[in-house]
Amino acid sequence: MSAPLSAALRRQAAALARSIAAAGGGVVAFTGAGISTESGIPDFRGPQGIWKKMRPIELSEFLADPAARREYWRRKVDGYPQMRDAEPNAGHRALTRLFASGYLEAVITQNIDGLQQKAGIPEDHLIELHGSNAYIHCLSCRRRYGWEEVLPRWERGEREPRCDGCGGWLKPATISFGQAMPEKEMQRASREAERAALMLVVGSSLQVYPAAALPEITSRAGGQVVIVNAEPTGLDGLALDILRGPAGDILTAVCGQLPARE
Ligand code: APR
Repeated sequence: MSAPLSAALRRQAAALARSIAAAGGGVVAFTGAGISTESGIPDFRGPQGIWKKMRPIELSEFLADPAARREYWRRKVDGYPQMRDAEPNAGHRALTRLFASGYLEAVITQNIDGLQQKAGIPEDHLIELHGSNAYIHCLSCRRRYGWEEVLPRWERGEREPRCDGCGGWLKPATISFGQAMPEKEMQRASREAERAALMLVVGSSLQVYPAAALPEITSRAGGQVVIVNAEPTGLDGLALDILRGPAGDILTAVCGQLPARE
């Protein structure tokens, strides 16, 4: 059980609720790994972040170097059960409540864990900028594979799985550094950012572009940006307010201050 929110954070949460109510449904949430740490999934740059323990493997290394490909798959196979079994936490549920009450238009996420879908945001209001760990695909022909098809091959010793159809490299459908961003998702996200009266950033260090450009798009278009994050971010300077604390408790407090819209 985390410590109760400070009086200052409770006041900020009440002010954020007023901003959300005033935005008339024009709120867009932009989430990062920090919204999922309370579900047991580590983030990348926080105190226990993954990139504090290992270096990311870029797509070019994955394609060129068998050792990098094997290490990439080892990490993914190791981390898969935890991500498969993770459940949404209070932060995900609060965003779904804001959506269900008509306050939130869409969630743009950098996360690959599928927890916001599990929490009930429908696909057509959710944008996954960095792909999804829910399935595996061939980098050449895009044929899809389930983890349940590929894990047995890994158990049998296949360390660099290839496509049965074209022989291309298989890889979980997440975007690695050096890999092209999904065009359709980026266009949708940029449009949502442009239109947003308020962008609610939750659990992101805002250090990875082009995703981190989205709050800047909202700000340039005259919208407000509010950041809920445990640590300073790359864009604190453009935020209307910064709520420095645990996303789950803060977003739950915000929901508690909002009348359910009819
Ligand atoms: N509540 C609030 N903030 C939290 C919590 C929490 N419970 N847990 C962690 N945070 C904060 C951390 O302090 C950190 O600033 O969330 C932020 C997460 O930042 P990153 O780990 O950098 O994650 P993210 O911003 O999503 O990274 C973007 O980088 O490596 C790539 O593709 C990867 O999508 C990822 C991208």
